[in-house]
Amino acid sequence: MTTISKPADVPAQRDRDKSEGTLLEVRDLHVEFHTRDGVVKAVNGVNYSVSAGETLAVLGESGSGKSVTAQAIMGILDMPPAKIPQGEILFRGQDMLKMSGEQRRKIRGAKIAMIFQDALSSLNPVLSVGYQLSEMFRVHQGLSKKAAKAKSIDLMDRVKIPAASKRVDDYPHQFSGGMRQRIMIAMALALEPDLIIADEPTTALDVTVQAQVMDLLADLQREFNMGLILITHDLGVVADVADKIAVMYAGRIVEHAPVHELYKTPAHPYTRGLLDSIPRLDQKGQELYAIKGLPPNLLNIPPGCAFNPRCPKAQDICRTEVPALHTVADARGSACHFWEETING
Ligand SMILES: Nc1ncnc2c1ncn2[C@@H]1O[C@H](COP(=O)(O)OP(=O)(O)OP(=O)(O)O)[C@@H](O)[C@H]1O
Ligand code: SF4
Ligand SMILES: [Mg+2]
Repeated sequence: MTTISKPADVPAQRDRDKSEGTLLEVRDLHVEFHTRDGVVKAVNGVNYSVSAGETLAVLGESGSGKSVTAQAIMGILDMPPAKIPQGEILFRGQDMLKMSGEQRRKIRGAKIAMIFQDALSSLNPVLSVGYQLSEMFRVHQGLSKKAAKAKSIDLMDRVKIPAASKRVDDYPHQFSGGMRQRIMIAMALALEPDLIIADEPTTALDVTVQAQVMDLLADLQREFNMGLILITHDLGVVADVADKIAVMYAGRIVEHAPVHELYKTPAHPYTRGLLDSIPRLDQKGQELYAIKGLPPNLLNIPPGCAFNPRCPKAQDICRTEVPALHTVADARGSACHFWEETING
């Protein structure tokens, strides 16, 4: 089996680039949608960063702004209705929000690639998977049809699709859900991006297949020393693969921490609620904890801490003052007025 090779003329430069610190830094990002019903405040001051070789898991309930943040990074939001009134998205120190459409197109796919949840609707049903993979190499690298096909087969091998050379001419519907998701991973890897954003990459799959696809993604990420942003609402899947976690609620990061610290000592009641609602093998038969209530209506976010109507620890100040993101420790923060009480149990 051949591997995806680095371009022969620039390996040293590339290795140096990849070992240099922060790849992506999102600073105070705001995204709103102007709709007939009013302004949907989907993202309200998100800050996070990811370095080469690092996996950041972004966690939060449905509607917390995880995907909208990712779409803003990729530059694929429809504007309007979306608007970015504030914030910066720095890729290798350059604010992508200030770049031309042409500059952003060059980054998309080649430097930052995205894997979506639903492979079937992301792949073109009337084109073979080999054709779709080959197109990436033909368009971006100017390869001949034959060379592009050979590279596509290599990639299919890399993502462990059995009998790749036979299956390269098959169509998306001829593959299982797990295999289709592997093809999506192959498409994302094709141009050897520095950063992959995987938005719920395994949610549509069976549990056993989920684990296999997640393991594959984690292995490839390590091998290529890529940055990975893994978006999920499932705390269970991130423990083994993530280095750090950012927890989102109502369009804000409410807690961020290295993964093991967050599991051991959550510093935000929302994180604590999420952790308590993970099914555990040693607690079979016990009723599972669920955070009461629903996420807020983003047309009308409650004053103070957005989590206050659902928070078991809420006090008067929580209903009036938005908590700042307090520094809990090195590389740890919590947007809770009472983070100290929370972290201590
Ligand atoms: N085009 C749009 N117009 C209006 N509101 C939108 C639009 N796109 C997204 N939103 C709203 O932005 C909010 C954040 O959505 P987002 O898709 O980022 O949530 P999410 O955290 O990814 O949730 P999920 O886990 O369900 O994927 C939601 O309330 C959503 O309804
Ligand atoms: S600030 Fe108040 S309402 Fe918000 S999470 Fe902390 S204790 Fe709960
Ligand atoms: Mg989403």
